[in-house]
Amino acid sequence: MNAEAHPSIAGPVIRLDDIRRQFGPVHALKGVSFSLFPGRALALVGESGCGKTTCARIIARLDKPTGGSLFFRGQDLTARGTAKEERLYRKDVQMVFQDPFSSLNPAFTVSHHLARPLQLHGHDTSRAALEDGITGLLASVGLDPAVSKQKFPHELSGGQRQRVNIARALAVAPSVLVADEPTSMLDVSIRKDILDLLARVKQENELAMLYITHDIATAAHVAEEIVVMFAGQMVEWGNTEAVLSNPRHPYTQLLLSAVPDGGRPFVTGGSARFLEQAERVRSLSRPESAVIEQIGSNHFMRALGAQT
Ligand SMILES: Nc1ncnc2c1ncn2[C@@H]1O[C@H](COP(=O)(O)OP(=O)(O)O)[C@@H](O)[C@H]1O
Ligand SMILES: [Mg+2]
Repeated sequence: MNAEAHPSIAGPVIRLDDIRRQFGPVHALKGVSFSLFPGRALALVGESGCGKTTCARIIARLDKPTGGSLFFRGQDLTARGTAKEERLYRKDVQMVFQDPFSSLNPAFTVSHHLARPLQLHGHDTSRAALEDGITGLLASVGLDPAVSKQKFPHELSGGQRQRVNIARALAVAPSVLVADEPTSMLDVSIRKDILDLLARVKQENELAMLYITHDIATAAHVAEEIVVMFAGQMVEWGNTEAVLSNPRHPYTQLLLSAVPDGGRPFVTGGSARFLEQAERVRSLSRPESAVIEQIGSNHFMRALGAQT
């Protein structure tokens, strides 16, 4: 999870160090630490309300932490930067949101949605160069440029709109892409296509990616690393393969058991059994423990709280 642990790869683009966020009495994030590396994705997994979007908003600087530090290429961003630095950061860190419908303006064509960020990026703004840029972007996200350019958002399917959102994010050549539940509002049948696309653009563009999901089963499609979060705390994290094949924290085990077609007996037990198990996990996870156990070279879990 840190550069020293991966001597063969570049240093982190983004690093969160003990990030906290409190909303009045609600501790949405209770000390979250992880890094994003170029060409690699980290999956942030947990149920609704555990703090995933808060984390994404802090990384995108749409929200400020109440504690801890956010680093960008080694520079502490906790203090406000100059207006120019803020502008550059906002270009460099792009987001794709859950709702592909509300994130596009219904009054504008696909072409228009991509021309704006291309111009912002300082792209050659002659009409011909812009057209080429738009064509290239659409092709790179698997849309037929000739067909989709002049379409309006309502003429596209949810999956096609999400592809346009991804193209728009890529138009400014970012180094970080934060995708907050990018497939949860899409038809189940096309979710994997979008995840495959994210995995591909991550590689092609050397993106440091944060993939947020409540569906732990999808983490391995996109992400080399995983952080499982419960009630604002990281409970288990590390190499995706290591965590998913050998989940140690009861909460990770619970998430995996709840996966449809997970092949575990738990699923057949029905929701009453799930709720009972969830209640047990909640009691195990409090009070919160500061003790971190190392399970493998890149596999960690928060020790279970003492039972009183
Ligand atoms: N602007 C806000 N004001 C008050 N509470 C908030 C705000 N944003 C998030 N929260 C609370 O913080 C917690 C985490 O929310 P969120 O990050 O949206 O979770 P997730 O994305 O995992 O569903 C929740 O309890 C939520 O109600
Ligand atoms: Mg959310």
